[in-house]
Amino acid sequence: MVSWFQKNLQNVMLAVTALLLATSVNVNAEVAAPVVPKGKGEQCVEPTAEMRKNHMDMLKHQRDETVHNGVRTKKHALKECIACHVQPDDKGQVARFGEDEHFCSSCHNYAGVNVDCFQCHADRPQELIGKGHKIKPHHTADFKDKTINKDALQALTKVSK
Ligand code: HEC
Ligand code: HEC
Ligand code: HEC
Repeated sequence: MVSWFQKNLQNVMLAVTALLLATSVNVNAEVAAPVVPKGKGEQCVEPTAEMRKNHMDMLKHQRDETVHNGVRTKKHALKECIACHVQPDDKGQVARFGEDEHFCSSCHNYAGVNVDCFQCHADRPQELIGKGHKIKPHHTADFKDKTINKDALQALTKVSK
């Protein structure tokens, strides 16, 4: 299968040019394309091509709707992305954010994109947390029923550093 990165290399290169210039990381077309773990289920919440291009905008929009307007819907919720996209491999291992095998990191590591989302949000589905690892569930893993304000966000940021 020809990967998205191969098909859209030009766009990807455009998108990351600024980053590359800033960090002078040398990536060229010969570097192996990232292996993106397969999602659960038949299809994504939007057409796959759309997701590749626009997932960041959807997530940010959803976050703003929730944090600023108190609107909570499931469709573009980060937890739902993780529920489908982070699943055990054939050895029963669940990749953590930052590892190349983690869905979100697979492309980001490759493209040199940094996101801070998983300082607060769970990088694995709730039911897989603690499975095969002696790691306590993240104290901020489930935001449901909690209200958020500036102080809370600051406290969260401090604790998770
Ligand atoms: C119901 C399960 C499900 C949910 C929920 C879901 N996805 Fe997907 N997603 C899929 C499937 C299935 C595919 C298509 C094929 C694949 O994974 O190879 C896909 C494809 C993608 C791709 C392209 C992957 C590639 O190989 O290039 C991205 C990016 C993506 N999803 C991001 C997200 C984000 C961000 C969210 C949350 C807003 C999300 N998905 C929610 C199942 C899901
Ligand atoms: C198919 C590859 C791919 C997958 C899978 C993927 N991303 Fe991305 N993501 C990218 C690329 C490439 C960019 C940079 C786009 C740009 O700079 O225009 C990006 C950018 C982002 C950004 C914006 C970063 C910024 O600095 O503004 C966020 C947020 C983000 N991704 C979240 C996620 C999350 C959460 C997941 C997992 C649920 C995920 N992405 C999975 C390729 C991917
Ligand atoms: C400092 C901690 C923190 C960081 C970092 C953070 N979030 Fe959040 N996020 C929260 C909290 C708290 C809420 C509020 C949840 C609620 O009230 O339901 C939230 C809500 C959200 C929501 C709406 C709830 C949902 O899942 O539908 C989305 C989407 C979201 N964040 C995405 C992101 C993305 C994408 C990033 C990284 C670019 C990120 N967040 C970084 C703490 C954080």
